[in-house]
Amino acid sequence: MAVAECSYRLLVLLAHGATVNQSGARRSGADARSDASRAIDGHGSGGGLRALLCRRGRHAAFGKLGAATMTRAVPRRLVIFGASNIVSDLFDCALANGMAPAKVVVHLPEAAGERDIPLAARIAALKGLCEAPQVQMLDEFQPAAGELYLLGPTTPTRANLAAELERRFSLRYHRLIHPTAYVSPLAKLGQGVFVGANSVIGPGACLGDHVFVNRGVTIGHDTHIGPYSRIQPGANLGGLSRIGRGVTVAIGATLLERLVIGDGAFVGAGAVATEDVPDGVLVLGIPARFKKTL
Ligand SMILES: CC(C)(COP(=O)(O)OP(=O)(O)OC[C@H]1O[C@@H](n2cnc3c(N)ncnc32)[C@H](O)[C@@H]1OP(=O)(O)O)[C@@H](O)C(=O)NCCC(=O)NCCS
Repeated sequence: MAVAECSYRLLVLLAHGATVNQSGARRSGADARSDASRAIDGHGSGGGLRALLCRRGRHAAFGKLGAATMTRAVPRRLVIFGASNIVSDLFDCALANGMAPAKVVVHLPEAAGERDIPLAARIAALKGLCEAPQVQMLDEFQPAAGELYLLGPTTPTRANLAAELERRFSLRYHRLIHPTAYVSPLAKLGQGVFVGANSVIGPGACLGDHVFVNRGVTIGHDTHIGPYSRIQPGANLGGLSRIGRGVTVAIGATLLERLVIGDGAFVGAGAVATEDVPDGVLVLGIPARFKKTL
C-alpha cells in the first residue's frame, strides 16, 4: 500500500477513535495522556495510534497528503482564541495530534514588537501541511458543531479573555497535549490545559483550567498548579508543591519540592526557588530572592 494511502487510512481510523495494540512497545506519553483524559472526562481516542504515527515519523506524511485529504480525514476543528507568539506551538501540537487548526479568533490588535512574527506569517508557514486557518474577529465569532476550543495567549491577560468568552459563549475547552509528552494516568488536568512536547506531568499532579505547560517541562509528583498559570520551557518543579493562580515560572527555572508559590507570583528565568514565594512578587537568581512587587 502506498504510504499516502496507508496514512490516509490510519487518519480515518484515528478520526473515529480507533485504538491499536502496541504489544511490547514502551508505554508512550500519548498513551498515558489518552488514559488520563479518559479518567477525567471520558474522552481519549486514538492516543496510541497517534503515538505510533509520531514514533515512526509518519506525521511528516501529513504534509505530503495535502489539504483536501487532511480535511476529509480529520473532522475535529481547533479554534484558538487570541493570537500570540505561542500560536505556532499550538498549530504544531494540533498537527502532531492529527487535528486541523481551523480558526484563530482575534480579540485584540496584533502586537507588533520589533522581534514579533505576524500572525499572517505564522499561518503562511502552514502551507502544504493543512488548510490555512481562518482569522476572525471575536465580535463575528459564533460557536459551531465539531469545534474544539483553546486559549491562545499565555500572558496574564489569558484569564481576562477566558472571562470575556465565558460571558459571551460559556464554552468547554479542549486539552491539547503533544504526543511526545508523558502525562501520568494519576495526574488530573483541567479544561483548556496545554502540555508541550517532551514535558512530563508526574503522578498526583493536578493542573487547573487553562494551565499552559511549555516544552520540556517536568512537574513533580503531587504538585498542584492553579488556573491560568504558565510554566515556561525547561522549567523543573519539584513534588508536593502548591503553585497558585496566574503564576509564571519562567524559562529554565527550578523549584525545590514542598514549596508554596503565591497567586500571581513570577519566578524569573533560570531562578532556583528554595523557599516559598508570596503572592504577586518577582523573584530572581540562585537562590531566588525578592526583586519587586508586581
Ligand atoms: C522576570 C524577567 C521578565 C525580568 O524582569 P524585569 O523586571 O523586566 O527585569 P529587568 O530586565 O528590568 O532587569 C532588572 C534587573 O534584574 C536582572 N535580571 C533580569 N532577569 C533576570 C534573571 N532571570 N535572573 C537574574 N537577574 C535578572 C537584570 O539584569 C537587571 O539587573 P540590574 O538591576 O543589576 O540592572 C525575566 O527575568 C524573565 O524571567 N523573563 C521571562 C522569560 C521567559 O520565560 N520567556 C518565555 C520563553 S517561551
